[in-house]
Amino acid sequence: MKLFIKTFGCQMNEYDSERIAAVFEERGYFLTENVESADFAVINTCSVREKPYHKVESELGRLKKIKLKNPNFKIAVCGCVAQQDGEKFLERFDYVDLVFGTSAISRLHSLIDLVEQGERICDTNEGEDELTIPVFSRSKQVSAFVTIMKGCDNFCSYCIVPYVRGREKSRKPSEILDEIKYLVDNGVKEVTLLGQNVNSYGKGLDEKINFPQLLYLVNDINGLERIRFVTSHPKDFDDELIFAMRDLHKVCEYLHLPLQAGSNKILKLMNRKYTYEEYKEKVFKAKELIPSLALSSDFIVGFPGEEDDDFEQTLKAISEIKYESIFAFKYSPRPKTKASSFDDNVSDEEKSRRLNELLNLQSKITEKINKSYVGKIQEVLIEGKSKKDENQFSGRNRQNKVVNILSNHKLNIGDIVKVEIVEAKKNSLLAKVLEYVGR
Ligand code: 5AD
Ligand code: SF4
Repeated sequence: MKLFIKTFGCQMNEYDSERIAAVFEERGYFLTENVESADFAVINTCSVREKPYHKVESELGRLKKIKLKNPNFKIAVCGCVAQQDGEKFLERFDYVDLVFGTSAISRLHSLIDLVEQGERICDTNEGEDELTIPVFSRSKQVSAFVTIMKGCDNFCSYCIVPYVRGREKSRKPSEILDEIKYLVDNGVKEVTLLGQNVNSYGKGLDEKINFPQLLYLVNDINGLERIRFVTSHPKDFDDELIFAMRDLHKVCEYLHLPLQAGSNKILKLMNRKYTYEEYKEKVFKAKELIPSLALSSDFIVGFPGEEDDDFEQTLKAISEIKYESIFAFKYSPRPKTKASSFDDNVSDEEKSRRLNELLNLQSKITEKINKSYVGKIQEVLIEGKSKKDENQFSGRNRQNKVVNILSNHKLNIGDIVKVEIVEAKKNSLLAKVLEYVGR
């Protein structure tokens, strides 16, 4: 039996897809990239913005054609859109067999049992133990995602996540550590700790622990080389975490700290609970204590009420902070959110114009930063061959930038090498090997 999975959206969805694949693999399914040959297709959906939401429909249209040819072909929809629309999905798309929400993966075996018997079902109930499933199925060999908490209690006014991922819930430290040890025993060198808001890790657990303390425990795991984490909320990003990042040598010099907007008026409307000045102070302190720190951020343009002057402040912030990379989106109203009741008064044209201006500014900054790497010695974890050139190896430096490597010696996935950067490309760096550090 063959399983096809298509994943939209964030790393949390990628992680969930790996858990879903693990459940199917236990039942004897193999993964295939060719949907035409699959017996079961799962679409893991994202509803954070309107665009990915609509992609689900076009993906389903493609699957419908396959089902017309092969009636035994089963179709499941899961993730945030499934959680949001639930039963409505089964009604609207009569060829979909299974709809399951973000808390249903722990019940997936019994859901598949029912679907294999010919039933059509929807499960968007809340679950208690859904984070305890062991993960066998990983898409990458040396770098793995590990969820440490799920859900979000922040209710930023534009964001649907609290409605589709529920309230914050942290996973027990012992479970997290066991999962990472298991991954390391199986060749993983780098973990990315995942949560919508990792800074509030530990709230609600019986044992007293916070995120920096968890980092200390993870740092102690033998054989693990690198630790990354996403996403931090600026309002909770504090000195204790900066010190932990500085002092723990496995924690990489990379911080994704979404600012969203540079104008305090817009930040307030977004319910972000910080001002740009507070954000800047924290980031500058982090940069001062961790000089090689690379920063990245998310931005929303065209939020209701964003005037030219507000947008200018976002541009100014981007120039001042000098991010290595950013993700930027046009605002789109999402169901149930507070901002969906605001007047979406910036035209789509104007949103596009602002988005372009912002991305143009950023690409100049990225280019400059990339150039500044030339001549520097960097540590790279080899993830495989370069996508563009078979003769080059590819990995990431500690700042999370893709580095392609020229090497006369064969490098292996999982090797850690010291390289010298010889050239800066638009979105990556080119390097030559100086020293083989180890595996
Ligand atoms: N419209 C546009 N962008 C959004 N994001 C979240 N909700 C919306 C929305 N309604 C963006 C934010 C967030 C990222 C994951 O998606 O920038 O950080
Ligand atoms: Fe959404 Fe804000 Fe929570 Fe991030 S912190 S998931 S943007 S509500």
